[in-house]
Amino acid sequence: MSPLHVTRTLPEDATDAALRADVRYGLTADPKTLPPKWFYDARGSDLFERITELPEYYPTRAEREILLARAGEIAAASGARTLIELGSGSSEKTRHLIDALTSLAAYVPVDVSESALTQAGRALIAERPGLEVHALIADFTAPLALPRTPGPRLVAFLGGTIGNLLPAERAEFLALVRSQLAPGDGLLLGTDLVKDEGVLVRAYDDAAGVTAAFNKNVLAVVNRELGADFEPDAFDHVARWDPEREWIEMRLRARTAQTVKVPALDLAVDFAAGEELRTEVSAKFRRDGIAAELAAAGLELTHWWTDAEDRFALSLSVLR
Ligand code: AVJ
Repeated sequence: MSPLHVTRTLPEDATDAALRADVRYGLTADPKTLPPKWFYDARGSDLFERITELPEYYPTRAEREILLARAGEIAAASGARTLIELGSGSSEKTRHLIDALTSLAAYVPVDVSESALTQAGRALIAERPGLEVHALIADFTAPLALPRTPGPRLVAFLGGTIGNLLPAERAEFLALVRSQLAPGDGLLLGTDLVKDEGVLVRAYDDAAGVTAAFNKNVLAVVNRELGADFEPDAFDHVARWDPEREWIEMRLRARTAQTVKVPALDLAVDFAAGEELRTEVSAKFRRDGIAAELAAAGLELTHWWTDAEDRFALSLSVLR
């Protein structure tokens, strides 16, 4: 059985420095913001898992439906010998794809969470002896040091997470992906689609309040990591559809005027009553729009698969 290779390109203290910079920047900005990547500590990851099981939150089920139905077609169209998965987490959905990729020689899961990577990697090696697994502990919005594994390569970015990037960040991210590909390599991208506003808002404001708890958890992360004194229950969860920009915004709205101290940054942050802190943008896409964004990065959209209700899409694009 081949060993599990693990490479860390993220210094142990990089997370702390990045969190500090993001919190200082975001809480002194107008309007105030915090980037969604800080939701995912152990509790946040757990809450997200619960979100994916909510009746209102359809993207995970819709994407799994597409992967199950189309894994064979995706495998045939890409012919991938190396699969690089960005933000792989537990790699649960990807298993269908890996099983279908019969000529796969190497799987390269990339995630900031070492425990998720090594657990998933070990399980996979046990089932596919001969498959090389190179786990990369890395931030995929920065250039990756990819192992020298055989092509063609397929980069998979699933879950609709690209929607968490702002348009300029998306352009930068797609250009970075392209710079790491060779002609014939591909990108498999999961995108949630524009749909009825009520369906979208309910997916981000569920009746059981799990998304509200997930949203407020970012305040607990800042409290723990930077010694802040946010009172999570002094904020209300807000999910709003922006019809111009076609994205969902999650915000936390201060119930009363309050001052929050962030000792690690030597910062005191004033909130007015009703002031909103933006914690996430989750963009929704249309085929033409995403094809244009891919084309701008030098990638040609060649395949487009949706679930039976046209809620979510997987696209395959190739570098010519
Ligand atoms: C994991 C980023 C795809 O934007 O739908 C779920 C995160 N936020 N509910 C999304 C999320 C609120 C999710 N992604």
